[in-house]
Amino acid sequence: TRYSRITGTGSYVPPRRLTNADLAAQLAAQGVETSDEWIVERTGIRARHFVEAGVYSSDLALEACKSALSAAGLQAQDIDLIIVATSTPDMVFPSTACILQNKLGANGCAAFDVQAVCSGFVYALTVADAMIRTGGASKALVVGAEVFSRLLDFTDRTTCVLFGDGAGAVVLEASETPGILASDLHADGKHVGILCVPGHVSNGHILGDPLLKMDGQAVFKLAVGVLEDAARATLAKAGKTEADIDWLIPHQANIRIMQSTAKKLKLPMDKVVVTVDQHGNTSAASIPLALDSAVRAGRVKPGQNLMLEGVGGGFTWGAVLLTL
Ligand code: ACO
Repeated sequence: TRYSRITGTGSYVPPRRLTNADLAAQLAAQGVETSDEWIVERTGIRARHFVEAGVYSSDLALEACKSALSAAGLQAQDIDLIIVATSTPDMVFPSTACILQNKLGANGCAAFDVQAVCSGFVYALTVADAMIRTGGASKALVVGAEVFSRLLDFTDRTTCVLFGDGAGAVVLEASETPGILASDLHADGKHVGILCVPGHVSNGHILGDPLLKMDGQAVFKLAVGVLEDAARATLAKAGKTEADIDWLIPHQANIRIMQSTAKKLKLPMDKVVVTVDQHGNTSAASIPLALDSAVRAGRVKPGQNLMLEGVGGGFTWGAVLLTL
């Protein structure tokens, strides 16, 4: 049987780091009031990274991919599939994956983007796994890369404190031993309005508001329920139970969502990888960023079972269970 397995991880955040205090000072200058205390208590976020002008998702993705390739012992030319999960593409078209492919020098391989907002990485990983298992690819780069700072309304304190920029990547290779064990993906388009950037480009203009809108409480309520369901469905497909999970690596949106999910799955918080404190919510980049941080810190190790789960605009959600 042909399986797919992660053979390398990488990540990158841009150098400009803003603590909550830095951001609060910047917002205060515009008459918007917030505080480190409020942000930490409601979200667990302490700092985030923002790109400088002129830096794009493909630039962050490039750095994450270089380090994932090096961890896997591969060259860019070895790659035959690139999937980028992003909601902040460099251009309307072509895909960020094509731009990244050229920057990497992996020209010729299949390359496309997946758009599932904060669930993008679990969607992209599921698609890459399916392509590898069916012989459509054998060495894939699966990337989450975002510059959400471009979408933030810095007059809206309920959203602008939550997000950051960054990228994470994995190399997924065909393997005779199981890596990805099961996955479970869903969407419910009736919730488009609770988390969206409604604007679009039309006839040379931006029509509609091009900044992020979120009903935080509606998102919170939906997120906790669907994350539990997706994790349970994934475990059932793999014939596993909660006790088989060595690490939960959830989308890093809010520490309180992660705590609620862990509790529902009867997992102690010391089995949950948490990086939201340092990165904020980096949307599709958050899971691979958290995974790579934990791998490089020596916490998450080869042979362990990881439950990845994402939830985001769409509304979309899903989970992937894998053995590293
Ligand atoms: N600083 C200070 N005060 C603030 C701030 C801020 N940054 N933002 C809101 N407040 C105030 C509000 O104005 C409100 O004041 P009021 O009571 O005088 O009206 C008060 O704080 C409480 O606001 P709520 O919106 O009720 O705060 P809540 O406890 O719901 O926390 C939050 C808001 C953090 C957004 C929460 O709803 C949440 O985490 N939701 C989940 C959504 C999420 O994590 N989204 C990330 C993207 S979604 C995804 O990735 C899937």
